[in-house]
Formats: sequence, C-alpha cells, structure tokens
Amino acid sequence: MITEEPLVKEAWQALENSIIYYQERPVGTIAARDPDVQALNYDQCFIRDFVSSAIVFLLKGRSEIVRNFLEETLKLQPKERQLNSSKPGRGLMPASFKVESINGKERLKADFGEHAIARVAPVDSCLWWMILLRAYVNCTKDTKLVYREDFQEGIRLIMELCLVARFDMYPTLLVPDGASMIDRRMGLYGHPLDIQSLFYAALRAGGELLFPNQDNQYLIKAIRSRLPALIEHIRENYWLDTHRLNVIYRYKVEEYGEEALNKFNIYSDSIPFHKLTEWLPEDGGYLAGNLGPSQIDCRFFSQGNLMAIVSSLTNKQQSLGILNLIETRWEDLVGDMPMKLCFPALEDLEWKILTGCDPKNRPWSYHNGGSWPVLIWMLAAAAQKMGRIDLAHRAINIAEKRLNTDQWPEYYDGKNGRLIGKEARRYQTWTIAGYLLAKELINNPNHLKLVCFGEYPEAM
Ligand code: GLC
Repeated sequence: MITEEPLVKEAWQALENSIIYYQERPVGTIAARDPDVQALNYDQCFIRDFVSSAIVFLLKGRSEIVRNFLEETLKLQPKERQLNSSKPGRGLMPASFKVESINGKERLKADFGEHAIARVAPVDSCLWWMILLRAYVNCTKDTKLVYREDFQEGIRLIMELCLVARFDMYPTLLVPDGASMIDRRMGLYGHPLDIQSLFYAALRAGGELLFPNQDNQYLIKAIRSRLPALIEHIRENYWLDTHRLNVIYRYKVEEYGEEALNKFNIYSDSIPFHKLTEWLPEDGGYLAGNLGPSQIDCRFFSQGNLMAIVSSLTNKQQSLGILNLIETRWEDLVGDMPMKLCFPALEDLEWKILTGCDPKNRPWSYHNGGSWPVLIWMLAAAAQKMGRIDLAHRAINIAEKRLNTDQWPEYYDGKNGRLIGKEARRYQTWTIAGYLLAKELINNPNHLKLVCFGEYPEAM
C-alpha cells in the first residue's frame, strides 16, 4: 500500500479546512485562513484562486464541489445588457464571492471589483471559469451539465464579451491595469501576456464546449477566425530570443503601410538590450510581458509564459525554449521559492511611475518581483507536458523545504525569495492547492488532460 507523505496529508487537511458551504453544500474555498491577520476579503472565494483547489478536487473524485461552484457562480453572472455604468457588464464573472446570512437566510454576495481595492475589473475570472468548466467536463464527462441552456448561455455571454465589440486593431484582448492575478497597478494595461494566455485557453475551451447548433454558429465562427490570428500574433510578435533581439535592435521606425517590418513602431532605445543579451541563453527565449504601440514590456511574467506552454499557445520549440530559460536563469526565476511572478522588479523611477508609488509592490515584493508558490502547479504542468519533469521535481523539492514550516504563505519577498512576504497571509489556499496539484501532475501525466491543450487546430 502506498502511504501518503505527511506533508501531502497536512496540505489536504488544510485544503479541507478552507471549504466554504452554502445551504449546506460545498461551493468553493476561501482565499486564506490566517488566524493572525485581518481578513479583509481573504475570507471570500476568489474565482482565480479556486481553480487550483478545483482541479485537485476533480482529480480526487470530489467533483461535486466543482459542479456546485460552477452552477452558483453562473447564477452570479449578469445576464442583462447594462447601460447603468455602476453595474458590472453582461457576461462578466466576479472576482470573488462570499456567503451572507440575512434574517437566517443565506445568499451569495459577489464582488465584481466594486468593493475591491482600487476597484479593479477581474477580466481573468470569466476566462478561468471557462478553463475550469472544460477541466470539469474532461474529468467527469458530464456533458449534460455543459449542454444545459443556462450553461450554453453563460459561455455565449463570456465569448461575446471577449469577441464582439472592441476598440482595437490587435487580435489580443485589450484590458485595463490590474485585470488579472496582478490586481494592482503594475504597468499592465493594454495587452498583458498573463491575460492573453488565459484568453487563448478560454477561446479553445469555448470552441470545445459550445454546442454546434444554429444559435451558437456565429460565435463558433468568430472563435475559429480569432484563434489563428491570436496564435500568429503572439508567436511572432511577443517572442523574445537572441535572434529577435537582433532584428528589433536594427529596426527602422515610423514605417507606414502594409509592408512595415516594425509594425508596432518600437523604438530601440526603449529595450534593455545589454541586459537582455547577457540574460538570454542561446537556446532559450520567452514571451514578452506586453505589446502595444511603441511598447514591448520585456519583463518575464511566469503565469503568462507557463500557461502559454500548457495551452499550446507557443509552439514546441518556443515552449522548450521557455523551460531552457527557466533552467538557465534558475537563481533569478526560482531561487529559494518557486517562482517569481515577474522578473525583474520595477525599481526607482519606474516603480514610482508605473505602480503609483505602491508600498505593497516595492521592488522584490508581492507582485513586483515577489515569489508565488501557487505557480508551482503551472511550472509542473508545463515541465511535465514538455518532457522536462526534472525541472518540476527540482522546484517541488525546494518548495517542500519551507512551505509547511512557514505555514503556507501567500508569497515570498526578496531577490531570491528567501523572506516570507511582508504582508503575506498564512494558510493561503492556493499555495496549499498549488502544491498538491503539482504533486498530482508529476505523479500522473494522464492528469495533464484536464488543463492542457494540443496544437491548434487539433488533428481529427
Ligand atoms: C490578492 C492577489 C490576487 C488574489 C487575492 C486573493 O489580491 O493579488 O491575485 O486573487 O489576493 O488571494
């Protein structure tokens, strides 16, 4: 008999303790159960945070929690067109929700960003919701649920929100700052990679889950036309390696018309060439953090790069190249705790201008160069998918040395990730679930099918 490792057992117990009940049914997990710090909104269930817990529950035969979560959050999604500017738009999914009890009657109260610090819009919630719905269907084969009219409507509304009306000339999704896991100002307005990888995976999920009937035809067509354009745009224009740097370094500027090579009018002085030529290995590269008019953000964002591998947004060579980069720059990107949310940190004037002098996001802290253990599962999935399981083992071994002694912190600070985050919550649920999920993924490659996509279009 295989006995469970004590650390895994402990993590399971902590995950169980975080489950939220609504009308006596489990519907999600709270963000953190830190007994010593004021909860603020950490006593709520965040959609993005729940994804790692949900996949672990699915793998352990606890799919009812995920089903309840999907059904309840679907009811929170606004279904009417909103002309009232203070109400969330049609199709949006909330950042988080909590159970409220009024006169002994329970109800779910959603936060679409109207209560959140800085009132940020959680664009990633509806994208994660799609990704999770697909994982649920892949695991349980419960197509009856997804073909139910309320679910088909919910998917349609999300796809419409992303695909129909837009002020943009790029195939990527235009979003405000703070629209994802990085829910504070960090210079990420426009077309940040973290959102684009999720957007792409959500479109793939939508293409699989929309029932091919008359009502859905226009969206199925829209998805089919958007996907190849999005893939080409990201693979060509976000990719940075030594070869691309050479091309960008010698770009002409102010080019007009279809033949322009420097399509986004990038000025060479805006790119830190000298640092990058030293940092990039010969056999590696990564997707840039953002791309817009006269802008390439050269910071490395882990979630966007790892989810690009997991979802086959990058091609095989690029996916291997990203993992080579992580291996070569291990000290920078993993260090003492997997792994950096973004690298390098914004410092000095850049920190002042781009974060608005945010003290929580001081250099090498929190979102600005801090290390987030939840990312281990994405690293494990990407490494397992690309045959680089050695990297996943290495990362998990590092994490195991500290996570439970440190009581499962939300994030770590410092260049090497050696400090427990200044304001980090302990018993942060996605830290716990991220670790459990990474273990599941390295122990059983079959589990990858819940989160991974093959090359698009998939061979019949
Ligand atoms: C913080 C994080 C956000 C997370 C939330 C709950 O606001 O920035 O990504 O969803 O905490 O854990």
